[in-house]
Amino acid sequence: MSKLNDSQYLLKEQYQDAEKLNARIRLHVEFSTNKYGWLPWVFDHYNLPEECRILELGCGQGDLWRENIERIPTGWEVTLSDFSPGMLAQARQNLEGQPHPFTFEVIDAQSIPYDDDHFDAVIANHCIYHFPDRSKAFSEIRRTLKAGSYLYATTIGRAHLQGMAELASKFEHPIENLFNTDNNPFTLENGAPQLREWFADIELDRYPDSLDVTEAAPLVDFIISSVRFSLDETRHAEFLTFVERELTASGGVIRIKKDSGIFKARKPALQHES
Ligand SMILES: C[S@@+](CC[C@H](N)C(=O)[O-])C[C@H]1O[C@@H](n2cnc3c(N)ncnc32)[C@H](O)[C@@H]1O
Repeated sequence: MSKLNDSQYLLKEQYQDAEKLNARIRLHVEFSTNKYGWLPWVFDHYNLPEECRILELGCGQGDLWRENIERIPTGWEVTLSDFSPGMLAQARQNLEGQPHPFTFEVIDAQSIPYDDDHFDAVIANHCIYHFPDRSKAFSEIRRTLKAGSYLYATTIGRAHLQGMAELASKFEHPIENLFNTDNNPFTLENGAPQLREWFADIELDRYPDSLDVTEAAPLVDFIISSVRFSLDETRHAEFLTFVERELTASGGVIRIKKDSGIFKARKPALQHES
């Protein structure tokens, strides 16, 4: 087995179980200002036939399907996949007993073990920026999609959660790139030109939202879930006190801008069409 490089190691460590991801999701669920909901909004974009095959890459703990469970047409064959067996186990557990059957499979997005022209849609939410070789992944997604079918991929924009980095930097020495937004290789800003090399008709839709945070602890949990800002117990407690003071100073609410959206990208019907 090949040795993992540093960033692959950090990624595996971060996603080996759902604990850190949960700290993040909790904050979004409790304090988001847009009450429509990110996952129902994402699902709204899947304009697919009643009978179809769908592959989700980097599914995490399967929240997309759990949140939209009542909306899934009976004829949708959905395969949830992730390269982390821990994440996939969590997804399987979360979807057990739900009124729609799902298939679960460990898949690295850079090597999709399916035939050409197999899927009617491929979904990749908030994960393309993790793929070490995005060209390989795009090539695999395009290969396994049927001609004329779509990749639906969500990601973040550069301004996403910038307020958290500012808070962390105000407490410690400046924290470079807390959530990797500066050097993020696949964002709402730099995603389209990359997709255009493999797909046609690229469309981007942004979800208007922010966080109005009124409690320090979940905000602190979110910030320290970043691998770039791990604190020992003492510093953790000090950071909590610091954020509590910041909250009081800002009248009990800290507003943090969010910037997320979805790309839609079509596999060209003909080889030369792009
Ligand atoms: C930020 S989470 C997103 C989870 C879920 N899609 C969501 O939107 O909440 C990124 C996910 O991508 C997975 N991932 C990272 N690199 C991957 C790869 N090369 N192939 C497949 N999955 C990968 C991680 O294990 C993790 O579950």
